[in-house]
Amino acid sequence: METKVKIGDVVLSCPVLPASGCFGYGIELAQHYDLSALGGIVSKAVTLEERLGNDMPRIAETPSGMLNAIGLENPGVEFFLDVLLAQIKRFNLPIIVNLAGNEPTDYVELAEKMQDPQIVALELNLSCPNVKSGCMSIGTNPQEIERVVSAVRRATEKPIWVKLTPNVTDITEMALAAEAAGADAISLINTLLAMVVDVKTRRPLLKNNTGGLSGPAVMPVALRMVSECYRVIDIPIIGMGGIASVEDALAFLMAGASAVQIGSSAMQNPGLLFSMKDEMCTMAHDLGFSSLSEITGCLEYWN
Ligand SMILES: Cc1cc2nc3c(=O)[nH]c(=O)nc-3n(C[C@H](O)[C@H](O)[C@H](O)COP(=O)(O)O)c2cc1C
Repeated sequence: METKVKIGDVVLSCPVLPASGCFGYGIELAQHYDLSALGGIVSKAVTLEERLGNDMPRIAETPSGMLNAIGLENPGVEFFLDVLLAQIKRFNLPIIVNLAGNEPTDYVELAEKMQDPQIVALELNLSCPNVKSGCMSIGTNPQEIERVVSAVRRATEKPIWVKLTPNVTDITEMALAAEAAGADAISLINTLLAMVVDVKTRRPLLKNNTGGLSGPAVMPVALRMVSECYRVIDIPIIGMGGIASVEDALAFLMAGASAVQIGSSAMQNPGLLFSMKDEMCTMAHDLGFSSLSEITGCLEYWN
């Protein structure tokens, strides 16, 4: 079974990636798993300055999912480049760096710093719902998306993957804006803005009040959005949101994704990420496919 996929000019040995923020930088997991079963590494969001994130509690379990309001905790770009990148490079995998900022200029500055040849793409996080500025406030407005993506496009030759938020009325408007501004691919979805209440304390369970919902509960929303975008854009889609089994991953490919990312379910069971490639091959073979790439967009709609 041919497992290679192309995301624009980026060739991945297989379409299975960890979702940003749910995998650290792969450094801990490499002690227990063979990372070569992945198509690449996607970093946690990197910002210009170090961020401590939101106050705790910032994680809660929900029916078939979880809520998080981490708030982009990360050690900042200089530490990422000086310390973490060298450790991630040892895995010899394509590296996708997830970038987050408050202003368009933050994304430009970050993109300009990502010169290392092993960094194959920049995933612009225009979708985190847990910070007061940047991210989702950009990703819910097509003009803002165009402004940021075109500014980054001018600043770098690296492929740009734009990570979109599902917290919008029409996801296709956002995808089309990213494509028009020069994005090479779309990653979707980030988490759905949500809340959990503790009735005993009469307060939201998360200190941030709201958080982002992820995990199997969001998968039908994510699939619908991948399918809608696939029908209007020409650039590839990296699909995610709730993938917990090989059937889920194949459903994303059928709906139009060229690759998938797995987040919350891999936090519960990291082995899922590493068995996924082989399981996809077995199931794809049983379904009559000879390559994983030919599954993309093969969904047959009812009239
Ligand atoms: C704890 C946690 C941290 C996350 N951090 C980031 C992040 O730094 N950047 C980002 O683009 N998405 C982040 N996400 C969103 C995931 O990458 C993914 O888009 C979302 O969780 C849906 O996939 P899943 O249901 O497989 O988790 C985070 C999600 C979780 C649960």
